[in-house]
Amino acid sequence: MNFIQTFMDGEEGLFKPNSLTPMQKMILRFVVVGLVYYLFALVEGMLMRVYQVTPIAAIPPDQYFGMLTAHPLVGIFGSTYSIVFGAFLFLVPFLMSKPLWSIKLANWTCGLIAVGTFTFWFAGFLTHYAPLYTLYWPLPADFTQFSVWGGNIFILGIALIMVGTVFFVLNIFKTIAYTPEGWAKQDGKGLMASALGLSGLKNLFRKNKKEHMVSLPVAAIARGTVDTALNAGIILFTGVLILIYMIAEIAGSSLKHSSIDALLYKNWFWWGLDLIADGLVLIFVAGTWYLLATLITGKKLFMENWARAALFVEMVVSWTVWSHHLMSDQAQPGFLKILSGEMVTAFELITQGLAFFITLITLWSARP
Ligand code: HEM
Repeated sequence: MNFIQTFMDGEEGLFKPNSLTPMQKMILRFVVVGLVYYLFALVEGMLMRVYQVTPIAAIPPDQYFGMLTAHPLVGIFGSTYSIVFGAFLFLVPFLMSKPLWSIKLANWTCGLIAVGTFTFWFAGFLTHYAPLYTLYWPLPADFTQFSVWGGNIFILGIALIMVGTVFFVLNIFKTIAYTPEGWAKQDGKGLMASALGLSGLKNLFRKNKKEHMVSLPVAAIARGTVDTALNAGIILFTGVLILIYMIAEIAGSSLKHSSIDALLYKNWFWWGLDLIADGLVLIFVAGTWYLLATLITGKKLFMENWARAALFVEMVVSWTVWSHHLMSDQAQPGFLKILSGEMVTAFELITQGLAFFITLITLWSARP
């Protein structure tokens, strides 16, 4: 049975709603959730714009700050994560010509993102919990300003999204490495090494270049997914930390929020948060350009081994650039601002510039 054919056609044809395959239904769910939350981000974004020009009497200031807190999180997690996760849960099995490891788990990811986003948005909307999306310490645990219950439910919503994200990560890596039932045993370790590893870098120095076991877009998705996993770990840990303070507050024994070092926390948090902006976004975007360039031209990617190596370097670089978010922070050590904030950050110009160059040359090479 041709899996791809079944995926595209369903039982009776592509556009008959009743004949949608479980895979198609799952992906459509992600698209719908992503677009609904895009609408949330858009409406609140426009309201904020209007408010910034002339404060509206119907929106009290703390409601505005509640919106400013929820808006980026709805945009990033509710909308962008849904659309990107849905696309990659389709692309990885499609490009590898094998079924997704678990459609059920993918549906859980979609459900957890949908429910988690609504949970934190609604908690913010009702209680005006507003430590902003950067959650700088001690704001998230400052119960003189914010409702402890509002905060609890808000952070719980974020935690649900992170659990859904961990399921996505698991599904992607399992899909790359597993052997579907009834198939000849696949080399799981080799596939993972090709998806994650240094094969492009090694090939640069080999005389007889080796064939790669996974295609370049799959390698890009795998490497961006490493950053997605690290980010989920940091945000989950931070959420649990904040929840401990909140639960203690509710139990009547307030922990002193000053026991956390605010600067250390800021560095920790930005290290994790920046993996979205400077890691997975750049890597996913480069992978998407490569996929489009090869689909449009029908040609092999120009300098493919360099592209693979650059994706690997980009992943490592993304772990060391967080300090550019703390440039105007007086307490941030100067060497971190210069080394991480400026010098390593500038390296992204090289890796992303290379991706841009490779994409353009591939397109140019197909000219009549
Ligand atoms: C679709 C229409 C959108 C509009 C009209 C809009 C509008 C706005 C406005 C007015 C602000 C406040 C700027 C400020 O006062 O500093 C803002 C902040 C922000 N938005 Fe959007 N936005 C939109 C979509 C999105 C989406 C889809 C995302 C994420 C994927 C996003 C992420 C952010 C972030 C990260 C901030 C910064 C928040 C902060 O500084 O605390 N926005 N947006």
